[in-house]
Parts: sequence; C-alpha cells; structure tokens
Amino acid sequence: MTAVHATDSRTTAVAAGLRPTRIEVDLDAIRHNVGRLAALAGGAEICAVVKADAYGHGAEAVARAAVEAGATWLAVALAEEGLQLRDAGIDARILLLSEPPVAAIADLLAADLTPTVYREPFIAALDAQGQGRGRPVLVHLKVDTGMARVGVPPEHWQARFEQVATAPGVELEGLCTHLARADEPPVDTTSQQLAAFDRAIAQAARVGLHARLTHAANTAGGLLHPGSHHVLVRPGIGVYGLSPSSEGDAAEHGLCPALRLVSEVSFAKHVAAHTPVSYGHRWRAPEAGWVATVPIGYADGVPRRLTNRIQVLLGGRRRPVVGAITMDQLMVWCGDEEPVVGDEVVLLGAASRAPASGPPQGPPPGPPSGPSQWPPPGPPPGAPQELPPGAQPRPRPGTDPETDQAPGAEAAAADGTPTASPPLQVRAEEWAEAADTVTYEIVTSLTTRLPRIHLGVAH
Ligand SMILES: Cc1ncc(COP(=O)(O)O)c(C=O)c1O
Repeated sequence: MTAVHATDSRTTAVAAGLRPTRIEVDLDAIRHNVGRLAALAGGAEICAVVKADAYGHGAEAVARAAVEAGATWLAVALAEEGLQLRDAGIDARILLLSEPPVAAIADLLAADLTPTVYREPFIAALDAQGQGRGRPVLVHLKVDTGMARVGVPPEHWQARFEQVATAPGVELEGLCTHLARADEPPVDTTSQQLAAFDRAIAQAARVGLHARLTHAANTAGGLLHPGSHHVLVRPGIGVYGLSPSSEGDAAEHGLCPALRLVSEVSFAKHVAAHTPVSYGHRWRAPEAGWVATVPIGYADGVPRRLTNRIQVLLGGRRRPVVGAITMDQLMVWCGDEEPVVGDEVVLLGAASRAPASGPPQGPPPGPPSGPSQWPPPGPPPGAPQELPPGAQPRPRPGTDPETDQAPGAEAAAADGTPTASPPLQVRAEEWAEAADTVTYEIVTSLTTRLPRIHLGVAH
C-alpha cells in the first residue's frame, strides 16, 4: 500500500492546509531506478549515493528504498550524513566518499562507517585505532587517475600502497577512483583514467594488496562506459532519475524522475495588455489576460535567474513563468484561461490530474503499487506524449521576445500551426539548461523550507 510519510512538523503543516508548496518523492521510482542501474551495470553491485540529503530527495527514505531495491552500499560525503543514517536505524554498509578529518575517526568507527582514504596521516591514525581495538579497519583507498580533486596522486601510489599493505590495523576492502568526464561525448580522458586505474590495481597487487571491491563509475560511467563498471558502481543522480548531462539522458536509459515540485495557485488576476509584472517589470502582458500567482520562490530554491525562462503545468498545459521570480512567489501567464485559486501547479515532474478537456496525460497520478509496475507500459518517461483527442496545443503568447523565450515551445509548421505537443511534465533538465547548470545543482538547491513527502513508503 502506498503511504505518505508524514512524521515531521513541516509535513504536518502541509497536512494542516498551510502553504501548499511541497516536494513529493516517489520511492517506487527510486526503487525502479536502482534496479535499472544495476541491470545497466551488468550485475555490478550498487552503491547508491545519498549525500546532500539524497540530492535533496530526503536521505533516510531514499536510503531505505535503495537498499530494498538491492543496493548493497550507500555513500555519503560527510561523516555527519553517515551518522544521521545510522541514527535513523539504517544498517547497510555506508561509504564516506572523502576522507573526514582525523578528529572524526572515533565517531565513524563507532557508527561503522567505511572511510575512503588517501592521506598518510589519516591512514596512520586509522591503523593505530585498528590495532588498539584488535580488529583492522576496513578502508577504500582512492587513487587519483585524472580528476585532481582527492585521491592519491600517481607519484605517491607506491608509498601509499606499501603503507596500507604493512599496516596491521587497516584492511583494504576497496580500491577506487573517480571519473572527471564520463558524462561528455566520447573523449580520451575516460579511457585514459580507466587504463590508469588498471595500472593502480596491478601495482597494488604487486605489494600484496587485492581489494575485493574495485570501483570507478558514477551514473555516467554506469550508463555510458561499460569498462568502468568493475565490481561496484556508485550512481547518484541516476538513482533520482535525472540526467548527469545531455549525453547521458536519464529517460533514454529508462530512468524515471522521482521528484515532483508542486504548489497551487494562491491568487489570480486579470490584467490589461502591456501590464508589467513583478520586480523590475521584466515582463509585460502581450494582451489582456490572466496572471496566476504561485507561492514558491527563490528562497525555496527556484533560481531567480530562471525568470522568464521556465514553464509550469497548470490546468493541463504548460504555461510560462513570467516576470521576476521573487523570494516567495512567482507569476504564471494563463492568457485567456482563468486560473482558480487552489489549482495544482507543477513546477517539476508530471501533472497529477487530467485537464478538463480529456483523459489523463502523462505518467499515472500516483505512484504504482509495486516496482514491477514501474514504469507503466507505454512510452518511456520523458518521451513526448500526445494531447488527448480534441485538445489542441495553443500558441503561448506569454513569452517575451524582448527577454527570453521560455524553453519547450511547440514546434510550428510554416503556417504557424503547432505540430507537436510538449510533454506534460517539466524536467529538471530544462531548468538546468535554462540556468546554465546541471541537474545536480537544481535538486540540491531546493531548500529545507519545502516539506518532503515520500510516497510509496510502505507496501
Ligand atoms: C566520488 C563520487 N562517486 C560517485 C558520485 C555520484 O555521481 P553521480 O551523481 O554523477 O552519479 C559522486 C558525486 O559527486 C562522487 O563524488
């Protein structure tokens, strides 16, 4: 049975009918994506990356769903994030993707978090702890093969391998690296990094180090570079059904966005032609028509630079966000259709109810009852979906050629007749492209002011 996870005070506020703006996270989609990523990785083990509150999706619920779907590991960036998962009762293996400060060692050992290591003093400190407790600490040693962020640089591989091999308080469980350009069109960098990783594995073996787990792949590696799969893959963004880049399109690989960002119309007014809207009057109504106000703004994580650049779903159609996005509110152009206070507005994700003019469009209203039914039969999520018979897509007068054309406009024939329907979902990829950033930044920027409601918690 599908349930709403409504344990915190923020969720209670929504349930009580206060500000209707919220994030909904479909845990069936998370489970589906983990299964799909495992299949794409040819059976490699999955380490689901749930750092940064599971990329804004809610770490505890996502971690549980990922483990239910077969992930054997979880990964976080910070010791604090690992401790939070332990406090929530999650007992899966948890990998820290970066070395924490030495001062964190006692906590991480007490919570059985597995550190990624690369610095001599940190490994020495762990060795001492391991010897002190009479049981070696399992570690994953990271080698830098071309990312140049963290990890042992090649000139220090030999010394670090020898240190680990001769440290009785430390046991090498994993040997890993991180890919810098796996999400780009074919470049030599990835194959060079993978070749360097193979050299590191061989060099470690020569001093007697044989890691049970070798791992290199993030989502893009998993989707695009079979040579990177090794024994374990570490997908993050793909778990959430989002694309690492346009090269690795999540929908094309059968991944489903798990997050919907939803609000409601809070105010509606009819304006005269040329009426300027919002701070700076950066948009004017092209004709007399309706403007809806929606109670969400940049304090919730809708970037102000998306002003005049995105669309929402309202009344079964895509409609442009117009005028400056403000801290708590934004405006939507509805043309000659009167919005009603309380109408659902979908900022990210699929519409949850059908337009009055026809049958439901897009993915089903709620999450399916089990992973086996997800995704539903039919076109993959993200594929263009037809409007119902009789429903004509309308030209959108809301975009101002003086400012920026909102993305997703219908294709038009030479006579101006729209020829294709935009999909009835808004993808984080659209926001990322319009804001000149990545999907990662879009979802991790959604603030804690937004309650996260998890659907599909209990079966
Ligand atoms: C070391 C490491 N592995 C895996 C990941 C997951 O990457 P992605 O979200 O692109 O799948 C990250 C994310 O930044 C990372 O830092």
